[in-house]
Amino acid sequence: MSSPLILDGKIASIALLDQLQQQVTQAVASGKRAPHLVAVIVGNNGASETYVASKAAHSEKIGIQSTIRRLPAEVSEADLLAVVAELNQDPEVDGFIVQLPLPAHISEAAVTNAIDWRKDVDGFHPENVGRLAKNLPSYVSATPLGIVKMLEHYQVETAGKHCVIVGRSNIVGMPMALLMQRNAYPGNCTVTVCHSRTPDLAYHTRQADILIAALGKPRFVTAEMVKPGAVVIDVGITRVPDASKKSGYAVVGDVDFAAVAPITSAITPVPGGVGLMTIAALIQNTVNGWVAFGAGQ
Ligand code: GUN
Repeated sequence: MSSPLILDGKIASIALLDQLQQQVTQAVASGKRAPHLVAVIVGNNGASETYVASKAAHSEKIGIQSTIRRLPAEVSEADLLAVVAELNQDPEVDGFIVQLPLPAHISEAAVTNAIDWRKDVDGFHPENVGRLAKNLPSYVSATPLGIVKMLEHYQVETAGKHCVIVGRSNIVGMPMALLMQRNAYPGNCTVTVCHSRTPDLAYHTRQADILIAALGKPRFVTAEMVKPGAVVIDVGITRVPDASKKSGYAVVGDVDFAAVAPITSAITPVPGGVGLMTIAALIQNTVNGWVAFGAGQ
């Protein structure tokens, strides 16, 4: 089999960000204020710091104003909800996220549900999830939206294909299933969602024309689990110890890339695949909100 097409997140995310930058630049040149994205971060979780810094840097690069609101780990749920209420009301804020995970004494559901859905650029609010399910305009969780944009960029055919998703999380698996089955491009797939209670998982994954691995287990998907010629999308991103690296760790996906890539027709690498699209998708959501509800009109 010929070598697979590498679905390169750097190339696809730059293409999307360039397009968003043009849209923002033109609107600002005609007198609109720039979009404004706020990220709220509670405590100092290292991974959250990295994600938020990256989101802020990419936003600013394309002309989006970016603010990071830091709150101490001990902040009460009531005080965090007060910040959410303030951001909901602020006409200068087009979209905001509260970075997860939150400390154990704060209910993530209570916080997520308190965000005005029109500013919920994470797409986590029940209104947005419900609107997605009903095919109404909505914010879509950034990772599934990034995957859709990746498929679009590389013009991967989806109509009539069997898409198998491993993982049923609210943030990835569930919205991904909604997107892949809808009557649109990318979409029109027959969708199977597998999870930790699925017997004979490999039987299902071998049926996939498009396999989306989002279970969070490093190198879980092996060559025996993949149909030759399938398109494989790897959502996993886990640090594993690796003495050959200067940092002492390697970042790996849910797919055993070296073994699986040769039998696929197309595959996303980790790093450099879905992760970069996720950030671009968040920025897409922010620009969409600014156009729909804010100063970008
Ligand atoms: N933590 C890890 N990923 C995300 C994300 O996409 N949004 C938020 N708010 N928190 C996260």
